[in-house]
Amino acid sequence: MASLTPVAVLADEEPAPVDQHELSQMMQSEGAAKAFLWAFDAGDELTEFSFDAARGVGANIGEGRRFTRVPRADLADPSEWASHFPKREGGANATSFIACHNAPIANGAGDVAVNVLVDPAHTGDPTIYLERNTLPLFALGIPQRLAEEISADLYRQRDAAQQVACISGRTSVQLESKGVDYGTLILTRVSKDPCSVETDSSGLSGIDRDLVIKPFGWKGNHATIRAFTRNAAHNELGLQAVELVGDQDGDFDGVVNELTVGDVTALTIYMAALERPVTKIELADLGLIDLSGSERTDILAGEALFAQTGCTSCHTPAMSFREAVFKEPSETPGFFDSSFPDGTDPNNHGLNNVNAITFNLAGDQPNNRIKLLDGSIQHLGAAQQNAEGKPVARWYTDFKRHDMGSDLADPDNPLGLGASMFLTRSLAGVGATGPWLHDGRATTLQEAIMSHAGEASDSTTAYKHLSESEQTKIVAFLKNLTIYKSLEE
Ligand code: HEC
Repeated sequence: MASLTPVAVLADEEPAPVDQHELSQMMQSEGAAKAFLWAFDAGDELTEFSFDAARGVGANIGEGRRFTRVPRADLADPSEWASHFPKREGGANATSFIACHNAPIANGAGDVAVNVLVDPAHTGDPTIYLERNTLPLFALGIPQRLAEEISADLYRQRDAAQQVACISGRTSVQLESKGVDYGTLILTRVSKDPCSVETDSSGLSGIDRDLVIKPFGWKGNHATIRAFTRNAAHNELGLQAVELVGDQDGDFDGVVNELTVGDVTALTIYMAALERPVTKIELADLGLIDLSGSERTDILAGEALFAQTGCTSCHTPAMSFREAVFKEPSETPGFFDSSFPDGTDPNNHGLNNVNAITFNLAGDQPNNRIKLLDGSIQHLGAAQQNAEGKPVARWYTDFKRHDMGSDLADPDNPLGLGASMFLTRSLAGVGATGPWLHDGRATTLQEAIMSHAGEASDSTTAYKHLSESEQTKIVAFLKNLTIYKSLEE
């Protein structure tokens, strides 16, 4: 049996900034596997490190402060909170990434104590600040890669319909990928030679008009780990990536180039390649935990009830990959920067397809290699395989936004995505990532389920009509979805 040693072994050495050109050179001279592991380790160090002022952590809030838990649109002098660029949403809140991602272990979710308050519209009105609970960082390559494949399918379906509209004048197409319905497009030809087509996107379901699936953020508003990371680094840590602000000091703390392009690549690769959440049943089958026969029966009964009550209409249990290789930068349009937010060309920083850092989501994860009693090595970090031998992810989301009703709604709609609209939360690892829901209001899984309304009303009603013992089984199924960390690597 693998021994579990205490988890937080923190790096104490200052990580050197990662040079993207050097990373690319390593790809060429030492090969993809070496470059991947180097990026992964560098990302690991960056997530654990407590940055200091000399490295540019924090921001010039005003009133002599470097950090604030409360958005300060009132501090609006040149160089103060409200004058930073890009426009601040909140913070700076912390000096390290894992300060906020640590429950129940490093890279996990966060308690309500580390919730962040955001005021993207700079209203200065605390009654309409949005509150956000921390999400876990495990295996983020899985949702990004699935999103890439779904978008690629939707682009193909749209493009084919455009050809049809050019010939027939008008057509509609039902968009579908990996068993999920993404709504309809109606295409009407407006001129013949050359053909030009007008697209009515009002029938789309839960996704944006650009058909780019955005798996990150509670509202589903970021397509890539990279984009989410540089945004969070700026807002939560006051670390401004050079690809975000160029060589300017956008948060007026006297430091420029606070995160290099290579740093953001390393952080991206690290989170993409972290081990995936597991199940208790899986762990018991490997002899790593004890699970009684009745616990196992309850979990399986709960899984069936989870489907019967309609939970799976949003929390899609499994999706398979066509190609489980993650690449940074990605090759799928919508999932790489043709130019960085600061206007520069990624290629000039050494970030390009030729030297993309790649790894296989179905086998290359460095973490969670576990020595079993019989001496064999079990790799718990990788995506599983289905009956046809295809890599498959049990991520429990349809990657769509849904209206969750007025009780769960945000007090305001500064992003324009709808106050009550939320991305179907992945349930991978959900048993270990409480408190739950976007603001951490649910202290139990039962509360989280009971709070579902809006589009989830039918399912919630079905859940409420179950007997208490049936409800307990659904909760047992959710608790079965957990996180396991082996430090025996
Ligand atoms: C209409 C789509 C939909 C249906 C149906 C649905 N959910 Fe959800 N679920 C969501 C969304 C969206 C969220 C995130 C809501 C939020 O944070 O405000 C969520 C969040 C959750 C969470 C909290 C996850 C976390 O990490 O905080 C749990 C647990 C959950 N759902 C379980 C269920 C169960 C069990 C059912 C069936 C009884 C169900 N859901 C049915 C869309 C749905």
